[in-house]
Formats: sequence, structure tokens, C-alpha cells
Amino acid sequence: MDLLDIFDTTLRDGEQSPGFSMNKEEKLRLARQIEELGADIIEAGFPIASPGDLDATRAVAAEIKHSRVAALARARQEDVDAALRGLEPAQKPRLHVFLATSDLHLKYKLRIGRGQALEQISEMVRFGRRHCDEVEFSAEDASRTEIDYLCQTVMAAVDSGATIINLPDTVGYSTPDDYAEMFRKVRAFLGADSPVVLSAHCHDDLGLALANSLAAIDAGVRQIECTVNGIGERAGNASLEELAVALHVRNNRYPVRTRIQLEKLYPTSRLLSTITGVSVPPNKAVVGANAFAHEAGIHQDGILKNPLTYEIILPEKVGVPARRLVLGKHSGRNAFRARLGELGFETTDAELAECYRLAILRADEEKEITDRDLVTIIHQVRRSRAAVPATSGSATPVP
Ligand code: KIV
Ligand code: ZN
Repeated sequence: MDLLDIFDTTLRDGEQSPGFSMNKEEKLRLARQIEELGADIIEAGFPIASPGDLDATRAVAAEIKHSRVAALARARQEDVDAALRGLEPAQKPRLHVFLATSDLHLKYKLRIGRGQALEQISEMVRFGRRHCDEVEFSAEDASRTEIDYLCQTVMAAVDSGATIINLPDTVGYSTPDDYAEMFRKVRAFLGADSPVVLSAHCHDDLGLALANSLAAIDAGVRQIECTVNGIGERAGNASLEELAVALHVRNNRYPVRTRIQLEKLYPTSRLLSTITGVSVPPNKAVVGANAFAHEAGIHQDGILKNPLTYEIILPEKVGVPARRLVLGKHSGRNAFRARLGELGFETTDAELAECYRLAILRADEEKEITDRDLVTIIHQVRRSRAAVPATSGSATPVP
């Protein structure tokens, strides 16, 4: 099975989004965790952005030994110089040079022509390659770049020494078919036996970042750029945890392997939330609070009989401490019986029926029945049943 490189850009693209800025210590803490998680490449920062980011990139580069450390630079001398300074202490450095290639960006943002862009790419990749063993080139806005010109930019970068070519869907505009097609054309242009690694980098503006990344894998891409919790510019990047779990659960469909330690996904997600103070939405796949929570009675019944009925991966496999059977108005009797049992109350059928009736009444008001509510209700039921002669069974003592 082919190995797929995971390029984590939480500390760079992720950090660029509002509310996610991190200082040196925070970046270091997260970088250590992402290395443990098994990312092949950690993009530590964009050193030209600020002296602090240069410093943080150097600190990450000095400490991270197993993962490769990347630093980003536009195809400009001062950027490349700063990125190289950031990478100086790295054991395994990667210089990441980018330039926009779509006519829209060339004309309105950079105000340069296609020819000049080709020159800048060649010059900066060649310079970078003289000072760093590994250079990646990204054609910003690749998915909206005219394909023949895109191939010319790829050729310029490869001829100048880039060995990884990243073709980002910078504005999240692509569909899976379009994106895969672009990679197939570029791969055909490079030739099937070219050693160049193609890389995908997807933004989630249309909610397609993961689907586009998977389509890119189908088209032969062997590096995916992604972030913890899917943070990143605007709607974010492809989420690392979703990608890793999709490749695990649907390995029959995507036969590639990664070095990601699945059970570290949830702790890594939690660490990012703790550091930044930004929590993930409850319905977020894999790491959201509801990703392994079940409220509907039919689902709870299935889960209690066999978790695979309503879970495609077990919570412990991704480091989530436990699934939650949420007690609310949609819940069934079996879930109440199970929760009461976990709380130490073995109930008779009559007790359970009364407890269930009162809990459902309460759930209409409270939305969710907490353990405390449940204990109050079972005590209430037992008190009222003790007050009248018992007709069926007797209550088991509370431990
Ligand atoms: O989205 C993008 O195009 C980028 C590049 C700088 C890689 O983040
Ligand atoms: Zn990006």
C-alpha cells in the first residue's frame, strides 16, 4: 500500500485564521503533540510575517526531530531569506516557496505577467534549493489557473529543483472531479515515472475540502496538506482528523496508509482548543462533542446491542474517552435502564416505567436529563412506591 505524507499546516495556515494566533510556547506545545500524532511534515510558520513568527519557527525547527519542519515563503528574496533563517536549526528542513499562478491573481494582486511569474518561480526555487535540501513549490490558486500555464509553472519549479509540487484549491472553488482532473493532467505532463510528489491543499469554502483531498488521492497525489480541527483561512482547510479517519474506515476505497496514530486525534484536537480557547462545534466529525453521542431511542437501543449499528469507528480508536448516551425526550427505556445501572441503580420493570414517564415529562422542559436529574427521579419513584404497598418486585438498595 502506498504511503501518503501528511503535511500539517495548523501552525501556519491554521494560525492565519482569526482567533487562532499562537505565541512561541503555544506553537511548541502543539508542534510536539502533532509530531507525536505522526504528521510527516509540520509547517511551523511564515517567518517573514513577524519577528515572533521567525522566532517560533526556529524554536519548532530546533526541537522537532522526527517530523520534517517546513517554513513558508513567497517567491521573493526577503521571504526566502527569512524562511531559511527559520529553518537553520532544523534536522530535516523543507523550504516551501509559493507564488500565485491564476491570471486573476497575477493581474489584480501581483500586477505581473505570466512570464515574470515564471522567472520569479525559477529564481527563488533555484536559490532556495542551493540552501535547503528539500524545496516544495505551491502554485497558489492552482485550481483556477489555466492548465497549460499551470504546467509551465510546474516545469519551471521542477527544473529549478523543487521535488514536491503542491496545487492548492486556495479559495475552495473546486469540485472533486475538477480537482482530480487537474492532477491527472499535471501528472501526465510530468510523465508517469517522474519522482515529483504531487500534493493537495484544500480550503473548505464549499464544504468540499475533504472530498477534494480524497479525489486528489484517487488521482495519484501522495501528500495532503491539512490542519487539526480543520482550522485555516476563512472556512478552514481539510481537517486532519477527518482525513485520517476516512482513510482508515474506507481503506477498501482509498488503499493508502499514513503514519497518523489515530488514538492521538482527540487529545490533539483538545490541546488546540485549550491553547486557542476556541472549541470545535458539537457536530464536528470525529472530535465534536456529539460525534459519539446518541440520543434517539432507536439508536441507543442499537448501540447498547452492538455499537457498530450506529458508529463507523469506535470512540476509543480515535482517543475519545467514552461514547455518550444522552438522555432526552427522544431516548428509549433501554438507555434509561442502562444509565441507571451505571449509576448503581438496578430497577424493577415497574420502577423503570415510572422513572421513564417522569424523565420524559422533564425532558420536554429541560432538553437533557442529567445524572443528577435521574438520581432525583429514581429516589422520588422509590419514595412514592414505598408509601403505597408494593405490587410488583422490590427496589434494589442503592450502593
Ligand atoms: O491556500 C493556499 O494556496 C496556501 C498556499 C500558500 C500553500 O495556503
Ligand atoms: Zn491555504
